[in-house]
Amino acid sequence: MDKPKVVLGVSGGIAAYKACELLRRLTESGHDVRVVPTEAALHFVGAATWSALSGNPVSTGVWTDVHEVPHVRIGQHADLVVVAPATADMLAKAAHGIADDLLTNTLLTARCPVVFAPAMHTEMWEHPATQENVATLRRRGAVVVEPAVGRLTGADTGKGRLPDPDEIFEICRRVLARGAAAGRDLAGRHVVISAGGTREPLDPVRYLGNRSSGKQGYALARTAAARGARVTLIEANTGLPDPAGVDVVRVGTAVQLREAVLKAAADADAVVMAAAVADFRPAVYAEGKIKKKDGQEPAPVALVRNPDVLAEISAERARPEQVVVGFAAETDDVLANGRDKLRRKGCDLLVVNEVGERKTFGSEENEAVVLAADGAETPVPYGPKEALADTVWDLVVPRLGASGDTDSGNSG
Ligand code: CTP
Repeated sequence: MDKPKVVLGVSGGIAAYKACELLRRLTESGHDVRVVPTEAALHFVGAATWSALSGNPVSTGVWTDVHEVPHVRIGQHADLVVVAPATADMLAKAAHGIADDLLTNTLLTARCPVVFAPAMHTEMWEHPATQENVATLRRRGAVVVEPAVGRLTGADTGKGRLPDPDEIFEICRRVLARGAAAGRDLAGRHVVISAGGTREPLDPVRYLGNRSSGKQGYALARTAAARGARVTLIEANTGLPDPAGVDVVRVGTAVQLREAVLKAAADADAVVMAAAVADFRPAVYAEGKIKKKDGQEPAPVALVRNPDVLAEISAERARPEQVVVGFAAETDDVLANGRDKLRRKGCDLLVVNEVGERKTFGSEENEAVVLAADGAETPVPYGPKEALADTVWDLVVPRLGASGDTDSGNSG
């Protein structure tokens, strides 16, 4: 089979050097990559580097190899175009259809999915002109990855950093897997996902916790971003790297998770509770470390109930058409317990999986049945957590009310 053809567009920002790493990830994983830098990008990384790393010729203008009509051919034959970094100027040109070099021509001729990974100073990112250009591109189906927050060129910090190249690579992989459907069915939607496991402190050094790794919640976040959603990920104790283009809110306990989920859910189209939330917490938090005493048995730990976040958001929907999804980790009578839990919690969908010491927690795979409040049951065979995540979104999308501003037309 032919290798998937990827066009890596590089525009003129300091983060261009990070695109070398993205290029390596793409080529090493079996993609045929044609790098199309802008003239300005070559101030940061030269054509020799792009050519050597990609094994393909590199040009910036439309007047090289004219007999091959590159300004049309490169875009027409691509399976994916990813622009990383995308400067404010590049986003503006793409949004307005300006075609004054090879990359902008390629964006106009591409009929495949297009991913933009913007990088710029916070002021430029937040400027209404840039925000409107981003909205235009997203409305047409392009995936515009939210920039990361952190150190920018010079001493300043803020939103505008290019996300980690590994994470941009993950988005590209997801978008390529979805083909023409990428960036579309969740465009204009805000989804909130909780992931990981809460920890309930007993004293300054100990906590009650659980075995959730957070991987299923992160797979949901990545797949939602690749389908065009604005994603808020409420993360509890996972230690996993932030997925590109996702707003991450860190929490520790069930009470903190509840607060963060309720706040983010206020304008959400869908809320997915993949986190393992502790049902109980120690009734008393010891300010100092609990010490053992010679000859004395340890005192029992009294517990109190934590709020049930899933039941609460299902009962009091922030928006009437909001879709709420829960997860059920069961060890016995998996389906019967799942059906009962779906009724008790009042959510629209419940992903039921069997757990055990070696099952599900921490693994890259999962097997589940998705139960719907209308009685539908969708079995998901054993496979990558990303496949289960995509099935969840496939079931969420038709249940969303109208209001997402999806549009048809060219991605770029
Ligand atoms: N959940 C929640 N708040 C809690 C406990 C659980 O929001 N305090 C959510 C989880 O995020 C998950 C779902 O409820 O989506 C089911 O979690 P699970 O632990 O399987 O259910 P429990 O309510 O704990 O039921 P039981 O202990 O009876 O199995």
